[in-house]
Amino acid sequence: MTPNKLTVAVLGGGTMGAGIAVTAARGGHRAILRDIDDEAVRRGLDNAESFLRKSASLGKLTAEQADAALADLSGTTDLSDIAAADVVIEAVFEDLELKKQLFAELDDVVSRDALFHTNTSTLSVTSIAAGSRYPERVVGTHYCNPAQLMKLVEVAEGRHTSSEATKRSLEFLESVGKTTVITKDRPGFILNRFLIPWENNCIRALEAGLGTVESIDRAVVGALRHPMGPFQLLDVVGLDVHKAVSTRLYEQLHEPRFAPPPLVDRMIAAGDLGRKAGRGFYTYDSTKSFGA
Ligand SMILES: NC(=O)c1ccc[n+]([C@@H]2O[C@H](COP(=O)([O-])OP(=O)(O)OC[C@H]3O[C@@H](n4cnc5c(N)ncnc54)[C@H](O)[C@@H]3O)[C@@H](O)[C@H]2O)c1
Repeated sequence: MTPNKLTVAVLGGGTMGAGIAVTAARGGHRAILRDIDDEAVRRGLDNAESFLRKSASLGKLTAEQADAALADLSGTTDLSDIAAADVVIEAVFEDLELKKQLFAELDDVVSRDALFHTNTSTLSVTSIAAGSRYPERVVGTHYCNPAQLMKLVEVAEGRHTSSEATKRSLEFLESVGKTTVITKDRPGFILNRFLIPWENNCIRALEAGLGTVESIDRAVVGALRHPMGPFQLLDVVGLDVHKAVSTRLYEQLHEPRFAPPPLVDRMIAAGDLGRKAGRGFYTYDSTKSFGA
């Protein structure tokens, strides 16, 4: 057992939650994935397992390390199973009332000392923290997708977040191998403030016929040294998720560059949501989209 082995509860076993649970277990902590029904829990744990097994088969970790991480991963639908959590990481749907309600319920379940992290992309940390009777322990920790691979986490304090909670959160993130940047509790934090308009501009360039999906991706990877092109990235994120994030930022910031271009709506209407649908800007053999 590692000296500071914590119990980490991850709420929501979807795209982000499963990756965050992998990150916690790989970092030597005990990770409990909580979702609303058995099928969602199973899906999250299966995705976590297939990522760890694939990583081992690629030589990125040993089979023993994968086994150890899996032994530290469990799932539940029952909130009372996370009573011993030292850190609760919320990664449920991007819905303010849902997140507030969850933190209100958790006040009566977990210890007063537990940290509450929210992985919101576009909502205010202060507004989410208002659901808890102890907003001083609520910290925004915005992981990048895929959370199990991307190192950076943006950290944002709500209006009542204590400096002690932020300090402990930074230590926790360091313990799971993440690098952090501190940002303000503002729509889009740092990254989505320029990533979203940039992706929208790439889509507009495609609509204007400046290049093809492939040529624009090649130009960005070749010249800007991004690890993947904008359309590969949009397929990983999902067109529906991109639209939701763009729209929420547009509604809050009122700048046209955040508004999703019309092609996004047409692709969503056609079911071309990206990797998870087997088809987006590219087509895929497998519908599995959990990391590389
Ligand atoms: N997808 C991304 O690229 C990305 C990146 C950074 C942050 N985020 C944020 O992370 C959060 C989750 O996004 P996602 O893409 O993983 O969503 P998702 O739809 O893939 O998963 C959400 C999960 O939450 C579960 N859920 C809903 N209510 C719940 C409850 N009361 N308790 C436990 N689980 C519950 C759902 O069943 C689902 O499995 C959102 O706030 C989103 O804005 C997403």
